Amino acid sequence: MGLQIADQLNRPLRDLRISVTDRCNFRCRYCMPEEIFGLDYPFLPKDKILTFEEITRLAELFVSLGITKLRITGGEPLLRKDLPTLIRSLSHIEGVGDIALTTNGVFLPKYAEELRAAGLERVTVSLDSLDDERFRQMNGGKAGVQAVLDGIQAAAQAGLQVKINMVVQKGVNDQDILPMAAYFQEKKINLRFIEFMDVGNTNGWKLDQVVPKQQIIDLIHEQMPLEPIEARYKGEVATRYRYQGTDQEVGMISSVTDAFCSTCTRARISAEGSLYTCLFASKGYELRDMLRSGQTDDEIRAYIERIWRGRTDRYSEERLSHTQVSSKIEMSHIGG
Ligand code: GTP
Ligand code: 5AD
Ligand code: SF4
Ligand code: SF4
Repeated sequence: MGLQIADQLNRPLRDLRISVTDRCNFRCRYCMPEEIFGLDYPFLPKDKILTFEEITRLAELFVSLGITKLRITGGEPLLRKDLPTLIRSLSHIEGVGDIALTTNGVFLPKYAEELRAAGLERVTVSLDSLDDERFRQMNGGKAGVQAVLDGIQAAAQAGLQVKINMVVQKGVNDQDILPMAAYFQEKKINLRFIEFMDVGNTNGWKLDQVVPKQQIIDLIHEQMPLEPIEARYKGEVATRYRYQGTDQEVGMISSVTDAFCSTCTRARISAEGSLYTCLFASKGYELRDMLRSGQTDDEIRAYIERIWRGRTDRYSEERLSHTQVSSKIEMSHIGG
Protein backbone atom coordinates (compact mmCIF):
# COMPACT_ATOMS: atom_id res chain seq x y z
CA MET A 1 0.00 0.00 0.00
CA GLY A 2 1.12 3.53 -0.74
CA LEU A 3 1.28 6.72 1.23
CA GLN A 4 -1.77 8.02 3.04
CA ILE A 5 -2.45 11.56 2.02
CA ALA A 6 -5.42 13.55 3.24
CA ASP A 7 -7.17 16.62 1.86
CA GLN A 8 -8.19 19.79 3.69
CA LEU A 9 -11.23 17.99 5.15
CA ASN A 10 -9.10 15.06 6.26
CA ARG A 11 -10.36 12.72 3.53
CA PRO A 12 -7.82 10.19 2.24
CA LEU A 13 -7.32 9.35 -1.44
CA ARG A 14 -8.70 5.84 -1.99
CA ASP A 15 -10.68 5.43 -5.22
CA LEU A 16 -9.68 6.35 -8.71
CA ARG A 17 -12.29 6.54 -11.46
CA ILE A 18 -10.76 6.53 -14.91
CA SER A 19 -12.73 7.56 -17.99
CA VAL A 20 -11.41 5.85 -21.10
CA THR A 21 -13.61 7.58 -23.69
CA ASP A 22 -16.00 10.52 -23.92
CA ARG A 23 -18.14 8.70 -26.50
CA CYS A 24 -21.24 6.64 -25.93
CA ASN A 25 -23.61 4.60 -28.06
CA PHE A 26 -26.55 5.84 -25.92
CA ARG A 27 -27.95 9.35 -25.69
CA CYS A 28 -29.53 9.33 -22.23
CA ARG A 29 -31.41 12.59 -21.85
CA TYR A 30 -29.98 13.21 -18.38
CA CYS A 31 -26.40 12.72 -19.55
CA MET A 32 -25.87 13.23 -23.32
CA PRO A 33 -29.03 14.71 -24.84
CA GLU A 34 -29.03 14.10 -28.58
CA GLU A 35 -29.62 17.70 -29.60
CA ILE A 36 -26.32 18.67 -27.97
CA PHE A 37 -24.31 15.48 -28.46
CA GLY A 38 -25.20 15.24 -32.16
CA LEU A 39 -23.23 14.27 -35.26
CA ASP A 40 -21.22 17.49 -35.14
CA TYR A 41 -20.32 17.28 -31.44
CA PRO A 42 -16.55 17.70 -31.03
CA PHE A 43 -15.63 14.43 -29.33
CA LEU A 44 -11.99 14.06 -28.40
CA PRO A 45 -9.65 13.04 -31.21
CA LYS A 46 -7.58 9.94 -30.57
CA ASP A 47 -4.32 11.78 -29.94
CA LYS A 48 -5.91 13.76 -27.10
CA ILE A 49 -6.98 10.61 -25.25
CA LEU A 50 -4.63 8.88 -22.84
CA THR A 51 -3.06 5.70 -24.15
CA PHE A 52 -3.23 2.50 -22.10
CA GLU A 53 0.42 2.99 -21.18
CA GLU A 54 -0.29 6.50 -19.91
CA ILE A 55 -3.35 5.34 -17.95
CA THR A 56 -1.37 2.52 -16.37
CA ARG A 57 1.47 4.84 -15.43
CA LEU A 58 -0.95 7.26 -13.80
CA ALA A 59 -2.74 4.43 -12.00
CA GLU A 60 0.58 3.27 -10.58
CA LEU A 61 1.35 6.77 -9.35
CA PHE A 62 -2.07 7.05 -7.73
CA VAL A 63 -1.66 3.66 -6.09
CA SER A 64 1.59 4.89 -4.58
CA LEU A 65 -0.48 7.73 -3.06
CA GLY A 66 -3.06 5.44 -1.42
CA ILE A 67 -5.50 4.36 -4.15
CA THR A 68 -6.71 0.76 -3.74
CA LYS A 69 -9.89 0.78 -5.88
CA LEU A 70 -10.09 1.43 -9.60
CA ARG A 71 -13.22 1.97 -11.64
CA ILE A 72 -13.24 2.27 -15.41
CA THR A 73 -15.89 4.59 -16.84
CA GLY A 74 -16.73 6.54 -19.99
CA GLY A 75 -18.90 7.62 -21.83
CA GLU A 76 -19.29 3.95 -22.58
CA PRO A 77 -15.97 2.31 -21.73
CA LEU A 78 -16.58 -0.76 -23.89
CA LEU A 79 -16.40 1.48 -26.97
CA ARG A 80 -12.69 1.80 -26.28
CA LYS A 81 -10.81 -0.65 -28.46
CA ASP A 82 -9.06 -3.54 -26.68
CA LEU A 83 -10.28 -2.55 -23.22
CA PRO A 84 -9.39 -5.99 -21.77
CA THR A 85 -5.75 -5.17 -22.51
CA LEU A 86 -5.97 -2.16 -20.20
CA ILE A 87 -7.75 -4.20 -17.52
CA ARG A 88 -4.97 -6.77 -17.67
CA SER A 89 -2.25 -4.21 -17.15
CA LEU A 90 -4.14 -2.47 -14.32
CA SER A 91 -4.76 -5.79 -12.59
CA HIS A 92 -1.01 -6.35 -12.41
CA ILE A 93 -0.43 -3.23 -10.34
CA GLU A 94 0.49 -4.26 -6.83
CA GLY A 95 -1.83 -2.73 -4.24
CA VAL A 96 -4.96 -2.64 -6.39
CA GLY A 97 -7.58 -4.62 -4.50
CA ASP A 98 -10.62 -3.99 -6.66
CA ILE A 99 -11.25 -3.24 -10.33
CA ALA A 100 -14.75 -2.43 -11.55
CA LEU A 101 -16.38 -1.11 -14.70
CA THR A 102 -19.46 1.08 -15.17
CA THR A 103 -21.26 0.31 -18.45
CA ASN A 104 -24.62 0.51 -20.21
CA GLY A 105 -24.28 -3.23 -20.71
CA VAL A 106 -25.02 -3.77 -24.38
CA PHE A 107 -21.49 -4.87 -25.27
CA LEU A 108 -21.18 -7.29 -22.37
CA PRO A 109 -22.31 -10.34 -24.35
CA LYS A 110 -19.30 -9.67 -26.58
CA TYR A 111 -16.70 -8.81 -23.93
CA ALA A 112 -17.70 -10.22 -20.53
CA GLU A 113 -15.59 -13.40 -20.75
CA GLU A 114 -12.55 -11.55 -22.00
CA LEU A 115 -12.87 -8.86 -19.33
CA ARG A 116 -13.15 -11.45 -16.58
CA ALA A 117 -10.14 -13.33 -17.91
CA ALA A 118 -8.19 -10.06 -17.93
CA GLY A 119 -8.80 -9.56 -14.20
CA LEU A 120 -11.99 -7.50 -14.01
CA GLU A 121 -14.01 -8.42 -10.93
CA ARG A 122 -17.14 -6.33 -11.00
CA VAL A 123 -19.44 -4.50 -13.38
CA THR A 124 -22.12 -1.94 -12.66
CA VAL A 125 -24.76 -1.83 -15.37
CA SER A 126 -27.03 1.19 -15.82
CA LEU A 127 -30.70 0.38 -16.42
CA ASP A 128 -33.46 2.91 -15.80
CA SER A 129 -36.61 0.97 -16.70
CA LEU A 130 -37.93 -2.46 -17.60
CA ASP A 131 -40.50 -0.85 -19.86
CA ASP A 132 -39.11 -0.90 -23.36
CA GLU A 133 -40.79 2.26 -24.54
CA ARG A 134 -39.74 4.30 -21.52
CA PHE A 135 -36.24 2.92 -21.58
CA ARG A 136 -35.86 3.89 -25.25
CA GLN A 137 -37.20 7.34 -24.53
CA MET A 138 -34.64 7.78 -21.81
CA ASN A 139 -31.65 6.52 -23.79
CA GLY A 140 -32.36 8.35 -27.03
CA GLY A 141 -33.82 5.31 -28.76
CA LYS A 142 -30.49 3.54 -28.90
CA ALA A 143 -31.33 0.17 -27.28
CA GLY A 144 -34.14 -1.86 -25.82
CA VAL A 145 -34.35 -3.44 -22.38
CA GLN A 146 -33.55 -6.95 -23.60
CA ALA A 147 -30.12 -5.92 -24.91
CA VAL A 148 -29.17 -4.74 -21.43
CA LEU A 149 -30.65 -7.81 -19.72
CA ASP A 150 -28.60 -9.98 -22.07
CA GLY A 151 -25.50 -8.03 -21.04
CA ILE A 152 -26.28 -8.52 -17.36
CA GLN A 153 -26.72 -12.24 -17.89
CA ALA A 154 -23.48 -12.51 -19.85
CA ALA A 155 -21.60 -10.73 -17.07
CA ALA A 156 -23.00 -13.02 -14.38
CA GLN A 157 -22.23 -16.09 -16.45
CA ALA A 158 -18.66 -14.94 -16.92
CA GLY A 159 -18.27 -14.79 -13.14
CA LEU A 160 -18.40 -11.02 -12.75
CA GLN A 161 -20.16 -9.54 -9.75
CA VAL A 162 -22.99 -7.37 -11.02
CA LYS A 163 -24.74 -4.31 -9.63
CA ILE A 164 -27.43 -2.26 -11.34
CA ASN A 165 -27.75 1.54 -11.25
CA MET A 166 -31.13 3.14 -11.86
CA VAL A 167 -31.34 6.92 -12.10
CA VAL A 168 -34.78 7.97 -10.87
CA GLN A 169 -36.39 11.04 -12.43
CA LYS A 170 -39.78 12.15 -11.25
CA GLY A 171 -42.41 12.08 -14.00
CA VAL A 172 -40.06 10.10 -16.24
CA ASN A 173 -39.43 6.70 -14.65
CA ASP A 174 -40.60 6.86 -11.04
CA GLN A 175 -43.32 4.31 -11.88
CA ASP A 176 -40.49 1.85 -12.52
CA ILE A 177 -39.14 1.86 -8.97
CA LEU A 178 -41.26 -1.05 -7.74
CA PRO A 179 -41.03 -3.24 -10.86
CA MET A 180 -37.24 -2.79 -10.89
CA ALA A 181 -36.98 -3.61 -7.17
CA ALA A 182 -39.10 -6.76 -7.54
CA TYR A 183 -37.30 -7.93 -10.67
CA PHE A 184 -33.78 -7.60 -9.29
CA GLN A 185 -34.69 -8.98 -5.89
CA GLU A 186 -35.93 -12.07 -7.66
CA LYS A 187 -32.76 -12.23 -9.77
CA LYS A 188 -30.66 -11.74 -6.61
CA ILE A 189 -28.85 -8.75 -8.06
CA ASN A 190 -27.99 -5.63 -6.08
CA LEU A 191 -29.94 -2.67 -7.47
CA ARG A 192 -29.10 0.91 -6.48
CA PHE A 193 -31.49 3.82 -6.96
CA ILE A 194 -29.71 7.08 -7.81
CA GLU A 195 -31.25 10.46 -7.18
CA PHE A 196 -31.22 12.49 -10.40
CA MET A 197 -28.29 14.90 -10.14
CA ASP A 198 -27.35 18.25 -11.67
CA VAL A 199 -24.19 16.95 -13.31
CA GLY A 200 -22.85 18.81 -16.33
CA ASN A 201 -24.58 21.77 -17.97
CA THR A 202 -26.95 20.16 -20.42
CA ASN A 203 -29.46 18.02 -18.59
CA GLY A 204 -31.83 20.79 -17.48
CA TRP A 205 -31.84 19.59 -13.88
CA LYS A 206 -34.53 20.82 -11.51
CA LEU A 207 -34.86 19.94 -7.86
CA ASP A 208 -38.51 18.99 -8.33
CA GLN A 209 -37.45 16.15 -10.65
CA VAL A 210 -35.65 14.42 -7.82
CA VAL A 211 -37.38 11.60 -5.98
CA PRO A 212 -35.83 11.76 -2.50
CA LYS A 213 -34.22 8.59 -1.20
CA GLN A 214 -36.64 8.41 1.73
CA GLN A 215 -39.62 8.31 -0.64
CA ILE A 216 -38.04 5.46 -2.59
CA ILE A 217 -37.39 3.54 0.61
CA ASP A 218 -40.95 4.11 1.87
CA LEU A 219 -42.45 3.04 -1.43
CA ILE A 220 -40.51 -0.21 -1.55
CA HIS A 221 -40.87 -0.88 2.17
CA GLU A 222 -44.65 -0.86 1.89
CA GLN A 223 -44.59 -3.74 -0.58
CA MET A 224 -41.32 -5.46 0.26
CA PRO A 225 -40.21 -4.68 3.82
CA LEU A 226 -36.64 -3.40 4.14
CA GLU A 227 -34.12 -3.14 6.93
CA PRO A 228 -30.96 -1.01 6.94
CA ILE A 229 -27.54 -2.65 6.92
CA GLU A 230 -24.12 -1.30 7.84
CA ALA A 231 -21.91 0.31 5.24
CA ARG A 232 -19.30 -2.08 3.91
CA TYR A 233 -16.60 0.54 4.24
CA LYS A 234 -16.33 4.13 5.39
CA GLY A 235 -17.40 6.42 2.61
CA GLU A 236 -19.51 3.90 0.71
CA VAL A 237 -21.57 5.80 -1.84
CA ALA A 238 -24.77 3.77 -1.52
CA THR A 239 -26.75 3.45 1.71
CA ARG A 240 -27.51 -0.25 2.01
CA TYR A 241 -30.78 -2.02 2.81
CA ARG A 242 -31.84 -5.64 2.83
CA TYR A 243 -35.21 -7.19 2.02
CA GLN A 244 -36.28 -8.52 5.39
CA GLY A 245 -35.87 -12.25 5.81
CA THR A 246 -33.45 -12.49 2.87
CA ASP A 247 -29.84 -11.61 2.30
CA GLN A 248 -30.65 -9.70 -0.87
CA GLU A 249 -29.62 -6.09 -0.69
CA VAL A 250 -30.65 -2.89 -2.41
CA GLY A 251 -29.01 0.55 -2.23
CA MET A 252 -29.82 4.25 -2.36
CA ILE A 253 -27.45 6.87 -3.74
CA SER A 254 -28.65 10.16 -2.41
CA SER A 255 -26.31 12.86 -3.55
CA VAL A 256 -29.12 15.43 -3.44
CA THR A 257 -31.10 14.82 -0.25
CA ASP A 258 -28.36 13.26 1.87
CA ALA A 259 -24.94 14.20 0.55
CA PHE A 260 -21.91 12.06 1.31
CA CYS A 261 -19.08 14.52 0.67
CA SER A 262 -17.69 14.29 4.18
CA THR A 263 -16.33 10.81 3.42
CA CYS A 264 -15.57 11.29 -0.28
CA THR A 265 -12.29 9.61 -1.17
CA ARG A 266 -12.75 9.68 -4.95
CA ALA A 267 -10.51 11.17 -7.61
CA ARG A 268 -11.42 11.13 -11.29
CA ILE A 269 -9.37 11.21 -14.46
CA SER A 270 -11.07 12.28 -17.67
CA ALA A 271 -10.37 10.57 -20.98
CA GLU A 272 -8.07 13.43 -21.98
CA GLY A 273 -6.03 13.00 -18.83
CA SER A 274 -7.21 15.73 -16.48
CA LEU A 275 -7.61 15.15 -12.78
CA TYR A 276 -10.91 16.19 -11.18
CA THR A 277 -11.29 16.25 -7.43
CA CYS A 278 -15.10 16.36 -7.59
CA LEU A 279 -17.83 15.08 -9.90
CA PHE A 280 -19.11 18.64 -10.12
CA ALA A 281 -15.78 20.37 -10.65
CA SER A 282 -15.59 23.07 -13.27
CA LYS A 283 -11.85 22.76 -13.63
CA GLY A 284 -9.52 19.81 -14.00
CA TYR A 285 -5.77 19.60 -13.54
CA GLU A 286 -4.03 18.68 -16.74
CA LEU A 287 -1.81 15.60 -16.36
CA ARG A 288 -1.49 14.55 -20.01
CA ASP A 289 1.07 17.20 -20.92
CA MET A 290 3.16 16.22 -17.92
CA LEU A 291 3.11 12.60 -19.09
CA ARG A 292 4.05 13.60 -22.62
CA SER A 293 6.72 16.14 -21.83
CA GLY A 294 9.15 13.87 -20.07
CA GLN A 295 8.34 14.73 -16.45
CA THR A 296 9.49 12.10 -13.99
CA ASP A 297 7.24 9.93 -11.83
CA ASP A 298 8.36 11.87 -8.78
CA GLU A 299 7.41 15.18 -10.37
CA ILE A 300 3.98 13.99 -11.42
CA ARG A 301 3.36 12.29 -8.07
CA ALA A 302 4.30 15.45 -6.21
CA TYR A 303 1.87 17.45 -8.36
CA ILE A 304 -1.01 15.03 -7.70
CA GLU A 305 -0.19 14.98 -4.01
CA ARG A 306 -0.25 18.77 -3.84
CA ILE A 307 -3.65 18.87 -5.57
CA TRP A 308 -5.17 16.28 -3.24
CA ARG A 309 -3.76 17.89 -0.11
CA GLY A 310 -5.33 21.20 -1.15
CA ARG A 311 -8.74 19.70 -1.96
CA THR A 312 -11.79 21.31 -0.34
CA ASP A 313 -14.64 20.10 -2.64
CA ARG A 314 -18.00 19.35 -1.09
CA TYR A 315 -20.36 20.32 -3.87
CA SER A 316 -23.31 18.14 -2.92
CA GLU A 317 -23.32 19.43 0.63
CA GLU A 318 -23.41 22.99 -0.71
CA ARG A 319 -25.58 22.32 -3.76
CA LEU A 320 -28.66 24.15 -2.71
CA SER A 321 -26.68 27.29 -2.03
CA HIS A 322 -25.04 27.36 -5.46
CA THR A 323 -26.98 25.67 -8.22
CA GLN A 324 -25.63 28.31 -10.57
CA VAL A 325 -22.05 27.02 -10.82
CA SER A 326 -21.09 27.60 -14.43
CA SER A 327 -19.49 25.17 -16.86
CA LYS A 328 -19.25 21.99 -14.82
CA ILE A 329 -17.51 19.00 -16.36
CA GLU A 330 -19.93 16.86 -18.40
CA MET A 331 -20.83 13.43 -16.97
CA SER A 332 -19.81 11.81 -20.26
CA HIS A 333 -16.27 13.14 -19.81
CA ILE A 334 -15.91 11.90 -16.29
CA GLY A 335 -18.14 8.83 -16.06
CA GLY A 336 -20.10 9.50 -12.89
P1 GTP B 1 -19.04 0.41 -5.35
O1 GTP B 1 -19.52 0.77 -3.99
O2 GTP B 1 -17.57 0.27 -5.45
O3 GTP B 1 -19.75 -0.73 -5.99
O4 GTP B 1 -19.32 1.56 -6.34
P2 GTP B 1 -19.95 2.96 -6.30
O5 GTP B 1 -21.30 2.90 -5.71
O6 GTP B 1 -18.98 3.94 -5.81
O7 GTP B 1 -19.94 3.19 -7.84
P3 GTP B 1 -20.82 3.56 -8.96
O8 GTP B 1 -19.95 3.97 -10.05
O9 GTP B 1 -21.78 2.49 -9.28
O10 GTP B 1 -21.56 4.84 -8.40
C1 GTP B 1 -22.88 4.95 -8.62
C2 GTP B 1 -23.29 6.33 -8.96
O11 GTP B 1 -23.24 7.12 -7.81
C3 GTP B 1 -22.38 7.05 -9.93
O12 GTP B 1 -22.64 6.72 -11.24
C4 GTP B 1 -22.75 8.46 -9.64
O13 GTP B 1 -23.97 8.74 -10.28
C5 GTP B 1 -22.92 8.41 -8.14
N1 GTP B 1 -21.67 8.75 -7.48
C6 GTP B 1 -20.57 7.98 -7.33
N2 GTP B 1 -19.59 8.63 -6.71
C7 GTP B 1 -20.08 9.86 -6.45
C8 GTP B 1 -19.56 11.00 -5.84
O14 GTP B 1 -18.43 11.04 -5.40
N3 GTP B 1 -20.38 12.09 -5.75
C9 GTP B 1 -21.62 12.08 -6.22
N4 GTP B 1 -22.33 13.19 -6.06
N5 GTP B 1 -22.16 11.02 -6.82
C10 GTP B 1 -21.41 9.93 -6.95
N1 5AD C 1 -27.88 11.96 -12.23
C1 5AD C 1 -27.67 10.77 -11.62
N2 5AD C 1 -26.99 9.76 -12.17
C2 5AD C 1 -26.53 9.93 -13.41
N3 5AD C 1 -25.84 9.11 -14.20
C3 5AD C 1 -25.57 9.76 -15.36
N4 5AD C 1 -26.09 11.00 -15.33
C4 5AD C 1 -26.70 11.13 -14.12
C5 5AD C 1 -27.42 12.16 -13.48
N5 5AD C 1 -27.66 13.33 -14.07
C6 5AD C 1 -25.51 7.73 -13.87
C7 5AD C 1 -25.73 6.76 -14.99
C8 5AD C 1 -24.76 5.67 -14.69
C9 5AD C 1 -23.68 6.35 -13.97
C10 5AD C 1 -22.43 6.47 -14.78
O1 5AD C 1 -24.14 7.64 -13.63
O2 5AD C 1 -27.00 6.23 -15.06
O3 5AD C 1 -25.32 4.66 -13.90
FE1 SF4 D 1 -23.99 6.80 -22.08
FE2 SF4 D 1 -24.09 6.18 -19.49
FE3 SF4 D 1 -24.33 8.73 -20.29
FE4 SF4 D 1 -26.29 7.01 -20.78
S1 SF4 D 1 -25.58 7.66 -18.74
S2 SF4 D 1 -25.41 8.50 -22.24
S3 SF4 D 1 -25.16 5.14 -21.15
S4 SF4 D 1 -22.52 7.46 -20.51
FE1 SF4 E 1 -17.26 13.83 -3.63
FE2 SF4 E 1 -17.88 16.02 -5.00
FE3 SF4 E 1 -19.54 13.90 -4.94
FE4 SF4 E 1 -19.22 15.44 -2.76
S1 SF4 E 1 -20.11 16.06 -4.71
S2 SF4 E 1 -19.27 13.19 -2.82
S3 SF4 E 1 -17.03 15.94 -2.94
S4 SF4 E 1 -17.48 13.99 -5.82
